[in-house]
Amino acid sequence: MKLSFVAIIAASLLAISSSAIADPAVDIASIVKNSKGDCLNCHQVDRKIVGPAWKDVAAKYKGDANAQATLVNKVIKGGSGHWNNETGGLPMTPHPFKPTKEEIEQIVASILQM
Ligand code: HEC
Repeated sequence: MKLSFVAIIAASLLAISSSAIADPAVDIASIVKNSKGDCLNCHQVDRKIVGPAWKDVAAKYKGDANAQATLVNKVIKGGSGHWNNETGGLPMTPHPFKPTKEEIEQIVASILQM
């Protein structure tokens, strides 16, 4: 009796903790919306619009320890030339003020977690 009670508690804790792992797609969309950033005009998680799909960005930089810092910098300053096959050479506009640096750090971290 006591044992099954423990098992129920353990099972419900497991359910709570796994539901707390947010879907990265939903997570990023809500961070971007709250930040009032324009990222979603050019990016989606799953497919290219103007810029590369964020899941492709995640795949490209998998295992790259510098990716977080490099990409935050790139989003703030804008950039081009890394995705010419996808974009035909279009640049990304700079984002010096909006979203804030902290928000961009959060967005890039969520992209790299995919
Ligand atoms: C005007 C369209 C546009 C907007 C707005 C935009 N991007 Fe981009 N983004 C691009 C393009 C185009 C590229 C590909 C640049 C390249 O070829 O190096 C890109 C590339 C990227 C990359 C990969 C950079 C690399 O060097 O591999 C990341 C990460 C990224 N964008 C995140 C964001 C975030 C976060 C925002 C919102 C703050 C944003 N983008 C807003 C068009 C845009």
